[in-house]
Amino acid sequence: MTEKNLVLIGFMGTGKSSVGKALAKKTGRTLVDVDQRIEEREKRRIADIFEKDGEAVFRRMEKDAIREAVKGTGLIITTGGGAVLDAENLSALKANGFLVALEASPETIFQRVKDSRHRPLLHSNDVPGEIRRLLEARRPYYEKADLKFVTDGKSASQVAEEIATKLYGSEELEFGKDRF
Ligand code: S3P
Repeated sequence: MTEKNLVLIGFMGTGKSSVGKALAKKTGRTLVDVDQRIEEREKRRIADIFEKDGEAVFRRMEKDAIREAVKGTGLIITTGGGAVLDAENLSALKANGFLVALEASPETIFQRVKDSRHRPLLHSNDVPGEIRRLLEARRPYYEKADLKFVTDGKSASQVAEEIATKLYGSEELEFGKDRF
């Protein structure tokens, strides 16, 4: 039986990349960070892709990178905050993946992203307002995850521990002990 991928989804600043790293370390699984793959392939930052080519070009690259990533099994896959807004991306990730959404309050997200220069969607005069607006619009997409974890006030390794414990321990989840 093939091992499902464990896919982290959620808004910017909910901790996907750092929790993904911690989970990979804890489980020995290979980490595929979709945004990082795009940057490696393009040899430039995502902010630069948005600035020079626009969001639509970035979204096509993201779709290609996701198609490529889901060819693998037993991986930890971390996605950018907008990846699951696309129905094809969502179904590709779900086809052989278990989706875990990370959540955080708008205030926590603001604290985590306020000094970041690499988040083109938050270049606004009112970043807290933009976070709130985008978060509301995207909430239904993140709700499609199989499981959700709140990350406010927690370290990446704490969240990784919570996820691993839940997935290891649960009988009813497909992601059972001997497959994780
Ligand atoms: C995006 C989130 C970013 C990155 C791109 C678009 C989004 O990733 O993919 O800037 O649409 O929310 P993070 O969620 O890792 O910040």
